[in-house]
Amino acid sequence: MNTRELQDKILQKKKELDVCILAHAYQSHDIWDVADYVGDSYGLARQAEKAPQKTVVMSGVRFMAETVKLLNPEKKVQLANPLAGCPMAMQCSREDVLEMREQYPGYLVCAYINTTTDMKRAVDVVVTSSSAVKILRALPDKNILFIPDCNLGAWVAKQIPDKNFKFMKGGCPTHMRINAAHVLAAKKRHPDAVFCCHPECLPEVSELADYIGSTTGIMKYCEESDQKEFLIGTEQSIVQHMQFKCPDKRFYTVSNELVCHNMKQTTLMDVYDSVTGRGGEEIVLPEKTMEEAKKCIQRMVELGG
Ligand code: 13P
Ligand code: SF4
Repeated sequence: MNTRELQDKILQKKKELDVCILAHAYQSHDIWDVADYVGDSYGLARQAEKAPQKTVVMSGVRFMAETVKLLNPEKKVQLANPLAGCPMAMQCSREDVLEMREQYPGYLVCAYINTTTDMKRAVDVVVTSSSAVKILRALPDKNILFIPDCNLGAWVAKQIPDKNFKFMKGGCPTHMRINAAHVLAAKKRHPDAVFCCHPECLPEVSELADYIGSTTGIMKYCEESDQKEFLIGTEQSIVQHMQFKCPDKRFYTVSNELVCHNMKQTTLMDVYDSVTGRGGEEIVLPEKTMEEAKKCIQRMVELGG
């Protein structure tokens, strides 16, 4: 069976079995083609609520499928590849949060969505890269403990100078592989390119950017820009997707190091197996865990719009 035939089978089966496929922007292009929605972490979290289907297949990483389950407990949520997890989510446990609360009494604990459901039980609010600034500006709290991504946290803090931020030393192992030297070398190769990066990058990388935003933000910026060449400082798949979207423009990666092997675990065949019930993993979370972890996600939804 070739790719096109497998895609046709998935499209037919998802209709027959009433399944909605959500894919994160870092998924491969053959998966994008069969998805009902492709977007960033915030978009994925919100999209499942709007989907009329009773079953959702998540082509992304575990925390994304768990977020969908927390917001839609009545739906059956499948993670297309059970091995796809975000390593950043393993950097901070619920016990770590409880310890940090003692260290920083009175601080609002704000967690990036790239965390485990168990850890979310102990935090006050969850944010994504596209919603963090809006949510933290809207909250009255002046003192904020931002975990676990200190790079994203530093970018957010810069935009809200009237608040006091504390961080832990966590971050995305993929985005942290590039430094200012990679960017300067890439800029030299492509002197006319506009540099866009994700806020999970190191501050020395973000400082060199013309645009900083979530995956959806970067794609929208490139699509709407009058510029013709773009240097992409996020997972490499975005280069390929944008080249399809805007054939008259040119897209380049900053470095070949920008590959998230966790996002790349999921294949088109995994999506097929998950849609047809032969594979994937149904997300099942203990009721008490769901009840407690849901609060901080609902706060994100209320404030994030
Ligand atoms: P966004 O898609 O929300 O920008 O997040 C990027 C990411 O690294 C997801 O794991
Ligand atoms: Fe996690 Fe980084 Fe991969 Fe996103 S790109 S899933 S934050 S390791």
